[in-house]
Amino acid sequence: MDLRLCGFFLATYCGVAFPSVSDETGALPPPSHVSLILSSHFCVNLSWSPPENLNSSTCDVRYLIIETTTQGSKQYRRMQAHFNSCLSMNSGVNYTMRTQPNMCPHRTDSEDVVRSIPPRNGVIEKLVEGFQCVYTPGSMNCTWQPPNQTRDLQLYYWYENMAQPLEHCGLYLYTGDLKTGCHLHGDFLNFTNLTHEVFFLINGTHGSSTLWNTFQMVPRDHMKPSPPKLRITELESMLELYCDPPSGFDPKLQCWDYTYRYKSSKSAWEEKNICRGESALIPYDQRFQYRVQVKAICREICGKGASDWSQEVSYGQDQAPDWSYHMALISIPVVVTICVILFLFFLKKLRVLILPQIPDPMKLFKDLINSTEDPTAVDSHLRENTAILWGKSFEKQNVYVPEMPELCVDVMVLEFEPILEP
Ligand SMILES: *[C@@H]1O[C@H](CO)[C@@H](O)[C@H](O)[C@H]1NC(C)=O
Ligand SMILES: *[C@@H]1O[C@H](CO)[C@@H](O)[C@H](O)[C@H]1NC(C)=O
Ligand SMILES: *[C@@H]1O[C@H](CO)[C@@H](O)[C@H](O)[C@H]1NC(C)=O
Ligand SMILES: *[C@@H]1O[C@H](CO)[C@@H](O)[C@H](O)[C@H]1NC(C)=O
Ligand SMILES: *[C@@H]1O[C@H](CO)[C@@H](O)[C@H](O)[C@H]1NC(C)=O
Ligand SMILES: *[C@@H]1O[C@H](CO)[C@@H](O)[C@H](O)[C@H]1NC(C)=O
Ligand SMILES: *[C@@H]1O[C@H](CO)[C@@H](O)[C@H](O)[C@H]1NC(C)=O
Ligand SMILES: *[C@@H]1O[C@H](CO)[C@@H](O)[C@H](O)[C@H]1NC(C)=O
Repeated sequence: MDLRLCGFFLATYCGVAFPSVSDETGALPPPSHVSLILSSHFCVNLSWSPPENLNSSTCDVRYLIIETTTQGSKQYRRMQAHFNSCLSMNSGVNYTMRTQPNMCPHRTDSEDVVRSIPPRNGVIEKLVEGFQCVYTPGSMNCTWQPPNQTRDLQLYYWYENMAQPLEHCGLYLYTGDLKTGCHLHGDFLNFTNLTHEVFFLINGTHGSSTLWNTFQMVPRDHMKPSPPKLRITELESMLELYCDPPSGFDPKLQCWDYTYRYKSSKSAWEEKNICRGESALIPYDQRFQYRVQVKAICREICGKGASDWSQEVSYGQDQAPDWSYHMALISIPVVVTICVILFLFFLKKLRVLILPQIPDPMKLFKDLINSTEDPTAVDSHLRENTAILWGKSFEKQNVYVPEMPELCVDVMVLEFEPILEP
């Protein structure tokens, strides 16, 4: 109890004593009379007075401002006593400020002063989903997912230096009956002076309440030019591909890299990346038709984004299939098969010569009996015995079996060779 009381008195003493000490050393006093007001739908004015009890001729200070939204935080430093910012503050914004020494020896940062703008709809409620824009010089299309039960949805936009506080969307894009986008156009979207952000406000009645959503967009970061026009010329068994840069951009800026993709009737798609509008060379086989597409990709110096693939441009024709080639393809296996059959045939004949067939004694015996008496009278026992007995004379008979095989071989080989040659 005593200790806590002591602490309290100490704290009170320090709080009282602080201002008199701060003239010399320690933390600087914070900015005074800080006010934060909404100056428009998208902009805030933060203003303040220099710290009290500070001799500005001996101590020069500056101000640190931290802007925090759900997207993250940004820091700014200011010498003067006001700060303006334009931003989408759907879900509110907090400003944290402090005084910092600029030319003021022995002093440290002041304590923080916080000012807030609460979320627009109290609770953060989304009126539309997936808000996004695509930019082409002179115009921009912004689209969103249709809300479920929202009536009288309206889109307004604004950019810095615009005369009036808000401009209503001039041309809505529809999906069925629902507004799902807006087409914006005008000088403010001319690429040559495109340095600003564009702010959007969408409001509508959802149930019984009116909801507001705000968005901000840097058109340069959402480039989507129309696809470039592709041209193809033939150059010594190569194809040279080139295209005109997307229109509406200063050609001197060299904003674009290109990706070509190509395919012959016999191959898969291949891609080739080319920097700064130089032409691309691809190998060309005249027997096939080639299909080519191109897409422009924005270089960092101009923004972000890319075009869609251009329409396919085809070059050359598929040549009629070469029949001599196909004939060769078909005839080779046929000829080989015939050769194999002939070879097997002759092998059989040759085998008869080299390894004479062992005669079937039964057959011979049968033949013999056929010529003398009735074969049915002979029983199996007798057949076996006679076969052994007559063996020698059968062999003698066998000599007459081959039918001049050598002659046959020569004749057939002659027939066979002309077929092989074509
Ligand atoms: C906000 O600040 C700007 C520039 O300092 C000033 O011109 C403008 O009048 C201020 N707006 C309000 C509503 O105070
Ligand atoms: C501020 O400091 C200067 C230089 O020390 C002094 O001449 C001047 O009187 C001081 N001003 C105030 C208001 O204290
Ligand atoms: C601003 O500060 C309040 C109170 O600390 C906090 O609840 C809120 O989430 C903050 N808002 C943002 C956008 O950071
Ligand atoms: C924007 O919308 C208009 C109208 O539907 C259309 O003609 C145009 O091609 C669109 N532009 C882009 C970049 O999508
Ligand atoms: C639309 O309805 C679906 C399902 O009923 C719901 O999940 C979604 O959050 C609704 N969207 C809006 C924007 O109200
Ligand atoms: C863009 O340039 C046009 C023509 O030079 C001009 O009329 C317009 O005000 C400029 N827009 C912005 C936002 O600077
Ligand atoms: C953009 O503005 C410049 C001058 O500021 C003008 O020469 C040009 O024609 C404009 N381009 C378009 C697409 O409006
Ligand atoms: C939407 O905002 C505009 C501009 O502030 C206002 O005129 C209009 O009444 C609002 N619509 C609804 C439904 O609140």
